[in-house]
Amino acid sequence: MHFYEVLDDMFNEFEEYKDIKKGKGVRGTLITTISPKSIKLAAVVEAIHLASLLHDDVIDEATLRRGVLSINAKYGDFTAVMLGDIIYSRAFYELTSFNEKVAKIISNAVYLLSQGELEDVKLSKEMNLDKEKYLQMIYKKTASLIEASCKAAALEEGYDEDDFGLYGKNIGIAFQIIDDLLDITQDEKTLGKPSMLDFKEGKMTLPYIYLYEALDEADREKLKSLYKKDLSETEKEWIKNKMNELGIISKCYNEAKELVEEAKKAITEYNIPKLEIIAEKIVDRKF
Ligand code: IPE
Ligand code: IPE
Ligand code: MG
Ligand code: MG
Ligand code: MG
Repeated sequence: MHFYEVLDDMFNEFEEYKDIKKGKGVRGTLITTISPKSIKLAAVVEAIHLASLLHDDVIDEATLRRGVLSINAKYGDFTAVMLGDIIYSRAFYELTSFNEKVAKIISNAVYLLSQGELEDVKLSKEMNLDKEKYLQMIYKKTASLIEASCKAAALEEGYDEDDFGLYGKNIGIAFQIIDDLLDITQDEKTLGKPSMLDFKEGKMTLPYIYLYEALDEADREKLKSLYKKDLSETEKEWIKNKMNELGIISKCYNEAKELVEEAKKAITEYNIPKLEIIAEKIVDRKF
C-alpha cells in the first residue's frame, strides 16, 4: 500500500478533502526510502504537511494549490483553517501509536514549523535584509519537518538518527531556497501554485535579499517602491532581469547545491543511492 492511500483512508469522509490533489510526496518518500516498513509514519507526516499547507494558503492568501483552487479560495478561510485542524488532530492521534521518541521528534517539528510560519509573517512586515533571520525561519518552517521525517525513519530502522537528521536538515533548507527561487523563475502553470507571490506578500526570500545587496542606490529605491505591490508584467520582468543580470539566481541555486552535497556526505556510509537521487532532485526541479 502507498502512503497516499493510507492518507485517503484517513480523510476521505470529509467532502472538501476530495478536492485536494496529491503533491510530490517528498516527505513520505524520504521516510519509506529510509524505512520501507514505515508507511503509516509516512502518511502521518504527509497529513501534517498537508494541514500546514491548508493554513499556509490562508496566511499567504494563495488561491492555487497543486494545480487547482486552494481550499481557502474554494470554501473560504474558515473551512481551510478547520480542515487543517482536523487533519492535524488526526495525525497526532495516529502518532500516539508510535514509540515515544518518534512521536516526540515529529510533534516537536510541528511546534517548530508553526513558529517558522509565524516568524515568516513577522519578517514580512517590512523588508528583511538579514540573511541569518531568513535561514533560521526557513529551517523552522520547512527543514524541521523534513529533518524530523528522516530522523524518525532512521530510528525505526535502527540507524544513527543524527546522520539522517543532518541529511534531512540540509536538504530541507535547500528545498525551501529552491521553492523561493521557483516562485520567481517559473510560471503558475508549471508550479501549480501562484508565481511571483512572495514579494507581494512581503516575503524577502534569499534571492530578494541578495538582489537588494547587489543593486545600486537608484535601483534599490525602485525595488523598495515595488515591495508588497501588485506588480505589472513589466515590473515583474524588471525584477527577473535584474536577478539574472546580477547572477542572483545562480548564486542561490549554488548555495542550495552546496547544502545538498553536505546532506549526501552525512549519509554516504549507508550507501542508499535513492537518497542521493532525492537530494539531487530537490535542486533540479521545475515545481
Ligand atoms: C510546499 O511543499 C511547501 C514548502 C515547504 C515549500 P511541497 O513542495 O513539498 O508541496 P507538495 O506537497 O509537493 O504540494
Ligand atoms: C512553506 O512556505 C510553507 C510551509 C512550510 C507550510 P511557502 O509559503 O513558500 O510554501 P508555498 O510556496 O506556498 O508552497
Ligand atoms: Mg505559501
Ligand atoms: Mg507561506
Ligand atoms: Mg513558496
